[in-house]
Amino acid sequence: MRDSILAVCIIANLLCGVLVYFIPDMGNVILLTIASALTLLAIYDAFIQKKHSLMRAFPIVARLRWVFEEERDKIKQYFIESDLDGTPINREKRSIVYQRSKKEIETIPFGTQHNVYEKGYEFVKHSLFPTDHHKVTGDKVVFGSDKCTQKYKGSIINISAMSFGSLSKNAIMALNQGAKMGGFAHNTGEGGISPYHLQGGDLIFQVGTGYFGAGRTENGKRVFDDAIFKENAIRPEVKMIEIKLSQGAKPGHGGILPAKKNTEEIAKIRSVEPFTRVDSPPSHDAFSNFEEMIDFIQKVRELSEGKPVGIKFCVGDTDEIEEMIKTFAAHNNYPDFIAVDGGEGGTGSAPLEFSNYMGTPLLEGLAFVTKTLIKYNLKNQIKIIASGKAIDAFDLVKLKAMGADAMGMARSFMLSLGCIQARECNLDTCPVGVATQDEDLVEALVVEYKNVRVKNYHDKTIAALKEMVSAMGKNSINDIEAKHVFRRNKAGDITSLDKIYFQETSQVPVN
Ligand SMILES: Cc1cc2nc3c(=O)[nH]c(=O)nc-3n(C[C@H](O)[C@H](O)[C@H](O)COP(=O)(O)O)c2cc1C
Ligand code: SF4
Repeated sequence: MRDSILAVCIIANLLCGVLVYFIPDMGNVILLTIASALTLLAIYDAFIQKKHSLMRAFPIVARLRWVFEEERDKIKQYFIESDLDGTPINREKRSIVYQRSKKEIETIPFGTQHNVYEKGYEFVKHSLFPTDHHKVTGDKVVFGSDKCTQKYKGSIINISAMSFGSLSKNAIMALNQGAKMGGFAHNTGEGGISPYHLQGGDLIFQVGTGYFGAGRTENGKRVFDDAIFKENAIRPEVKMIEIKLSQGAKPGHGGILPAKKNTEEIAKIRSVEPFTRVDSPPSHDAFSNFEEMIDFIQKVRELSEGKPVGIKFCVGDTDEIEEMIKTFAAHNNYPDFIAVDGGEGGTGSAPLEFSNYMGTPLLEGLAFVTKTLIKYNLKNQIKIIASGKAIDAFDLVKLKAMGADAMGMARSFMLSLGCIQARECNLDTCPVGVATQDEDLVEALVVEYKNVRVKNYHDKTIAALKEMVSAMGKNSINDIEAKHVFRRNKAGDITSLDKIYFQETSQVPVN
């Protein structure tokens, strides 16, 4: 093959040379230049470079492989993918977010594309007597246990944690302004509070293991600092505090801010060296057992003057989680909410093994947390926020049925900002300005247009949820139970989620 390619190049070169000799016009000179460049490239690929065997065997042609590899996701998305293909979020789900964000037509023609007889197909039981969807309630949630003095009444759907650093300043501004317009909350992510978060939207201030915005560096280690935390926590925009223990996409691994995205501005906000990779440690320095964790939660609650304080984790060792909840009950002190993140959760950047093989998927993790809170009689005190690929109203019905009080959504809100799932969030090359710090790309995202889309997506998803609840013959979103949602296990065998996940009847979530 190598010799044939070289021969074709040399023959083309000779022919172009003859052409220029007899007809010396500009077009032929250009042809000769191209043929000569290709011949030189073929010689370089075949004989000079030694790194790529494929290029030595297939000069020039092998280079196309790199081009196609680079553009693989886009080619698949634009030319190959069907509505139910596409990972992590399929085209059908992505489209509904785009449609709701833009307030475009959101009905589909001709029936479902799902195979309703396939194993794993899920559906909801409806009623012969639907209620009026305008009157369906339950889209607001009051966060705050009996230990908290500044309860927060928020939306059932909020923007899950994503930092400035991971996302661009324009993305953060659009999310926050959208949250303000729609009356829902925006989680800061572990990168702390930036000026772009202060657009008037309610904030959930996340405290990660790097204590950005909540700590200082001492002997090369990040430590929690009461004064720095308090200064941020008592801001009026901050409605709740979330202590991050782990994240579904990389449980047991701290956050990663790639060096390229760690600009001067971000480094200043996080008080770290600019343009270096910033890894948060995998665990907290402020506590190392459950008793200390309870003390830390109480300290954070007091420093924030009584605001609801929660913990976020992905379920791992269930014995450990049970031990933690048991300790909460024994000490009669607990967080005001638990955010359960599924192993299928998103991230700006994570090691492959952690994203693919660590962490319990959301439904199993959520079921376990729900059951354990019921077992220790804490379900009425501790609210559950569930996150993990919640995109459309059916996802919300399912999570509500499994005991969630509210939902955190990250990637769907990115889609509402215009994310095309190019999956380059860790490279600083996000083509739509969502997950990059490249100034030119960031400018592509116009805040005044995208903020409305964030609000529309939130509002329309809640409206769709209310319509589903009314079709179920219920008056409130809180009336959804695990027995209302079904899954096909095999042909002719359909089981409700309460039978699959809540076998012990005393531990079925009833809101
Ligand atoms: C770009 C990006 C950045 C994220 N940053 C954080 C973070 O700083 N802290 C955190 O707890 N989770 C973070 N997450 C995880 C999300 O908050 C959420 O838990 C997870 O993506 C599941 O929600 P989703 O399926 O709706 O995306 C991030 C996710 C994405 C996509
Ligand atoms: S479009 Fe941007 S935000 Fe969306 S997946 Fe690609 S890089 Fe990430």
